[in-house]
Amino acid sequence: MRDIVPVRLLEGAFPILGVIAMAYELDQFISDCRSILSDDPGPAGREKVRTQLERLLRNPDFVREHCEQAPRGLHVLYEDPELGFQVLAHINDKARVSPPHDHGDSWAIYGQATHYTDMTEWEREDDGADPEHAKLKPAKKYRLTPGDAGIYQNGKIHSIEYPDHARFVRVTGTNLDRIPRVRFDLNTGEVKRMTPQQAT
Ligand SMILES: [Fe+2]
Repeated sequence: MRDIVPVRLLEGAFPILGVIAMAYELDQFISDCRSILSDDPGPAGREKVRTQLERLLRNPDFVREHCEQAPRGLHVLYEDPELGFQVLAHINDKARVSPPHDHGDSWAIYGQATHYTDMTEWEREDDGADPEHAKLKPAKKYRLTPGDAGIYQNGKIHSIEYPDHARFVRVTGTNLDRIPRVRFDLNTGEVKRMTPQQAT
């Protein structure tokens, strides 16, 4: 969605009011994230970031430049030197099914840019006492389509599945490569530490 900004088109005795469309750009999004998370780094602030990410993904120029025309790979679009949050573009070519995993002591927001991502949120059926094993059950399943963003709070377990060429933008509370995270083997129940770049 574009912001509608009233402008005065003609000066004079009978000014005419018109509108111009202002796209929501990456720089503005980053500035808004800084401001929002400085005021409130908790769930309410993160929810505001989520809605602003949806707004950014409705800017077709942003999606074209950073998601459709970008080379394959994981691109850090921004890392905040003070607050630590990151904005990442995941430029995928191949379809993927991830195992259930968490993001450790960080939150993450997934915003769909192209195609779709099927999300499953999981709950533990065990008491969490055994650090090596877990029993999970699916709690929620839904699809993120372009312009949708979903939020996953600290420790939330989820898994993703997407087709070829699905691309998304993530905002994470910190650089996930620097914190411990785990993934879960649904067949064996094993809990395994994740390595850097396995963050999705
Ligand atoms: Fe994830």
